Amino acid sequence: MYKQIQLLDHHIISGEDALTVLKTLFSSGDYKNRSFFLLTDHQVARHCLPILKEHLPTDNPVHHCLIPTGEEHKSLKSSRKIWNFLNKHGADRHSVLINLGGGVITDLGGFVASTYKRGISFIHIPTTLMGMVDAAIGGKTAINLNWTKNIVGTFAQPDAVFVFPGFLKTLHEKEINSGYAEILKHALIGDQKLWDALKGSQMKDIQDFSDLISFALLIKSEIVAQDPHEEGMRKVLNLGHTFGHAFESLFMEKGAPIGHGEAVAAGLLCESYLSGVVNNLAPALAEEIKTTLATTFSLPEIAPTDKESLIQYMLKDKKNQQGKINCTLLENIGKARFNQFIPEKLVDDALHYYMNTCTH
Ligand SMILES: NC(=O)c1ccc[n+]([C@@H]2O[C@H](COP(=O)([O-])OP(=O)(O)OC[C@H]3O[C@@H](n4cnc5c(N)ncnc54)[C@H](O)[C@@H]3O)[C@@H](O)[C@H]2O)c1
Ligand SMILES: [Zn+2]
Repeated sequence: MYKQIQLLDHHIISGEDALTVLKTLFSSGDYKNRSFFLLTDHQVARHCLPILKEHLPTDNPVHHCLIPTGEEHKSLKSSRKIWNFLNKHGADRHSVLINLGGGVITDLGGFVASTYKRGISFIHIPTTLMGMVDAAIGGKTAINLNWTKNIVGTFAQPDAVFVFPGFLKTLHEKEINSGYAEILKHALIGDQKLWDALKGSQMKDIQDFSDLISFALLIKSEIVAQDPHEEGMRKVLNLGHTFGHAFESLFMEKGAPIGHGEAVAAGLLCESYLSGVVNNLAPALAEEIKTTLATTFSLPEIAPTDKESLIQYMLKDKKNQQGKINCTLLENIGKARFNQFIPEKLVDDALHYYMNTCTH
């Protein structure tokens, strides 16, 4: 069983038979006589590569390139290593790079493939929940530079994306949390029915993420299809991320990093408050969002003295214009507005609201 979604000129195949479809693709005419390269990290190589192996092309050898695990390896150093690897093994413009891993691997592999010989084909096989519903979908590739996240990158679409939820069996709970925060975000932006289904349920009770993944990646795909280069409405996907990135930076600076999921959950809480103030989001809905987030995530606690640092981080956000803090906010569940410029006083009020919620 599998589902197929068309996004721009490629397909996203998701479901328990996704890897069987992949195997069929490799034996089709389009992929005959091409050389294959596989990029993954050490941890994914241990957990997921044995499952993928039997679905890989058999006619030609697949050259494996492994990098260490972790965000710090989404770097120029790794890119250089992979470009050299491709070159050394004779990759040409018809070669295909298979990216097997979380968002680090799909962002990095997409970037390397889209720049090697001015661009070769690549296929994403996400193995984290975050990768399946977000990072592998939409054609944004990136590496970090000197601790600045995603500062160098390209827009490049894969040949196809294969989402096999079975990979999640070995994924750590913290990583499931991270992807789940993005699923809640997608529901808030694009699908009231999905939100209504999720708001009353406990993440820990979800045994099988397959249907949720299909819904969530459909929401993202529909948004990307309308604005592939983020000139306008794709910015709605930033809901929760203006505050979320500031939380992530603050805790990194404190030397006690929090997960992206917790940071986004904190961001969604602050931004749902602002949605009420700026866009008249109904108080009952803001309350519903708060309850759902507070019961699902362990929201990071902040002290009054942290507020100023958080505001300083937000003032440096790359979405800002003329020094004004830029958020995506909700008007209703399923309806978000981007480019909402928020005065510092309101940002401070939102942090105050957050602190009151998180005082245990
Ligand atoms: N391009 C985009 O649109 C987009 C969107 C969202 C996030 N991202 C990027 O994605 C990255 C985060 O992605 P992530 O959360 O997937 O992190 P990740 O790629 O670092 O993976 C998280 C951890 O899980 C391990 N792992 C992966 N799959 C596993 C499995 N099935 N079993 C066991 N362990 C497994 C990895 O080795 C790693 O240690 C960030 O760099 C972020 O900027 C990009
Ligand atoms: Zn995110």
